[in-house]
Amino acid sequence: MRSDFYDFNAQKKIWSYIPFGGQKILSKDILTWAPERLADWVNVYGPEVYQQQSHRDNKYRKAFYTEFSIPKHKHVYDFGCGTGYFALELCRKDYMVSLADINEDSLTLANRVLAVEGFNSQGTHLISNGGKTFPVSQPYDIFHSVGVLHHTPYFREILLAAIINLNPGGQIWLMLYSDNLFKELTVIEVCPVSKPIWRYNSRITFDPIGSYLDWYNPEKIEYLVGDFLRIVHCDYVGMNGNHLIVKLEVKFNNG
Ligand SMILES: C[S@@+](CC[C@H](N)C(=O)[O-])C[C@H]1O[C@@H](n2cnc3c(N)ncnc32)[C@H](O)[C@@H]1O
Repeated sequence: MRSDFYDFNAQKKIWSYIPFGGQKILSKDILTWAPERLADWVNVYGPEVYQQQSHRDNKYRKAFYTEFSIPKHKHVYDFGCGTGYFALELCRKDYMVSLADINEDSLTLANRVLAVEGFNSQGTHLISNGGKTFPVSQPYDIFHSVGVLHHTPYFREILLAAIINLNPGGQIWLMLYSDNLFKELTVIEVCPVSKPIWRYNSRITFDPIGSYLDWYNPEKIEYLVGDFLRIVHCDYVGMNGNHLIVKLEVKFNNG
């Protein structure tokens, strides 16, 4: 069973730590900072990490903004928002954002990060229920998730849930660990796409941060969600093609 390999409550605790600039910071600790220190962090350290040319999220950001054909003021659901840094950037660019995460402190932090510049989220959602589904307060135009879906065995369930509240013409944007990164981290060959990783071999659910680890490539994405989603864009990025940037659209949209 998947739950034998994935302990949702343990994940909630593990993700109290936020990977940031090669370090792990406890969200709870950041919540004790004075507003000036948080503002500094948002304006100095955030750009240092996220806007480096080489940063995986920077490649994602570039693709996201270049390809993003949806007009401003549209609503982005940030699944696994972490510190809220990307959400802040979206607010600065006049998008509306909803925040969702499994970790309560991160959600509080993400809201504070938005508040540093006077923004509010459209909704703040704590994910429970084992992480197969998630709450939504209003429909959205983009479901976006950076560095999250390779840390759960519920890729298909989450994306099935994501399209329920996706407005017609909406898009799904993901940044995922690729098969290349998986091979590098585990030094084992990837298993066939038809064999879920949790059933294949428990030894390979290793990850330095999230503890549960999966990998993706275009073939696997097609296998898992190709019956209801179309891959519009799928690029290997970063060093050794370790990450995938994926844009998906609903098949039979508006139909
Ligand atoms: C690597 S961090 C990425 C954070 C943020 N998206 C970013 O790019 O800075 C992964 C985030 O996903 C959250 N997360 C982990 N497992 C999750 C799950 N099953 N569902 C939703 N969020 C999850 C963690 O709490 C953490 O905030």
